[in-house]
Amino acid sequence: MGDTYILGIETSCDETAAAVVRSGEELISNVVYSQIATHHPYGGVVPELASREHLRAIVPVVRKALEDAGKTYDTIDAIAVTQGPGLAGALLVGLSYAKALAFAADRPLIAVNHLEGHIHAVLLEERESGNTDLQFPLLALVVSGGHTHLYLAERRESGWTYRNIGHTRDDAAGEAFDKVAKLLELGYPGGPVIDFLAQHGNPNAVKFPFAQIKHRDRNPENRHSPDERRTDFSYSGIKTAVLRYVEVQNMAESIQRRREVITSVPNPKPEDYLAACDRPTLDLVASFQRAVVDDLVSKTLTAAIDYGVATLLVTGGVAANSELRSTFAARAAEEGIPVLFPSRKLSTDNAAMIAAAAYPRFLAREFANADLSSDPALKLG
Ligand code: KG4
Ligand code: ZN
Repeated sequence: MGDTYILGIETSCDETAAAVVRSGEELISNVVYSQIATHHPYGGVVPELASREHLRAIVPVVRKALEDAGKTYDTIDAIAVTQGPGLAGALLVGLSYAKALAFAADRPLIAVNHLEGHIHAVLLEERESGNTDLQFPLLALVVSGGHTHLYLAERRESGWTYRNIGHTRDDAAGEAFDKVAKLLELGYPGGPVIDFLAQHGNPNAVKFPFAQIKHRDRNPENRHSPDERRTDFSYSGIKTAVLRYVEVQNMAESIQRRREVITSVPNPKPEDYLAACDRPTLDLVASFQRAVVDDLVSKTLTAAIDYGVATLLVTGGVAANSELRSTFAARAAEEGIPVLFPSRKLSTDNAAMIAAAAYPRFLAREFANADLSSDPALKLG
């Protein structure tokens, strides 16, 4: 079979993205229009504004992705789009546009789960760098602003299958980064700034204990065998613990001072936040990050050992975190388990991962019908 060029479209949250990928193994073009500037003043994504921004950006972003790839609607083989999970209104913009394009250009349409996309961001880059020999069982941690999930992934003749063996019971890990950043007046999204600031603080200054949530799922529908163990996460407690620490340590004044300094900076950079942070804030941020990273790494490695995993894959926006990467690399090496990450560019939301995940479905001729609809709560596995 010859080369297959898939145009991917992603609008599930606050990035309008389009990309062209060749045969699930080469990134040809990748355009991401980030709405961070729109949502920054609100300290989080405002769904209505996200939909409006997608509507504004979708046409130029898709055109640019095709142009950068030297492709036209006639020379791509299929259009792939994120069906869910994500914000309802945001998903609808990408899905309606992709449907209309597929109809007008008479190309097949492929529906992709956003979480599967994050997993395929890594698989795409591994293939690109010549690693085609993946060892199974493969465990994927998808950790982002909306998700913290563990999947056992298998490659079959007919495509990939996923089995969920753990998830967060409340907040996602990225959400905790964003909420703590909001509380401390460190802007939005919180992850990249906290990542930078944590390098300047003492990670052992404040202790944040985490409970081990390891159990047999009480819902028999979620169980594949009677004694299957699940490894669940929980990140709402640490957010409250940080809030309590801020109150007990009387940090309100220092937060207020930072707010005043930062509002006078037009496009604040991590260095501007650093200049506006005192030692206790840096220590708190470093301790928070250390606690979340330790929890993610320990629980994932315990699950990997339980399931005799041969390859670990860590992906999603939080996979861009420097401490998470170095801690995973070191601790997985101790267990003799190779761990794969996407490049930072493909860690956060993008459409290359959607086009890559669509390729096995293209081969299996799994095309969407004209009545395809988005699903904000779409599950994987
Ligand atoms: O995958 P993504 O772009 O969107 C979702 O699917 O949610 O992930 C965005 C999340 C945000 O919560 C952001 O704070 C977090 O990823 N993030 C980070 C870093 N870069 C982005 N968290 C920790 N460290 C980072 N360097
Ligand atoms: Zn995502």
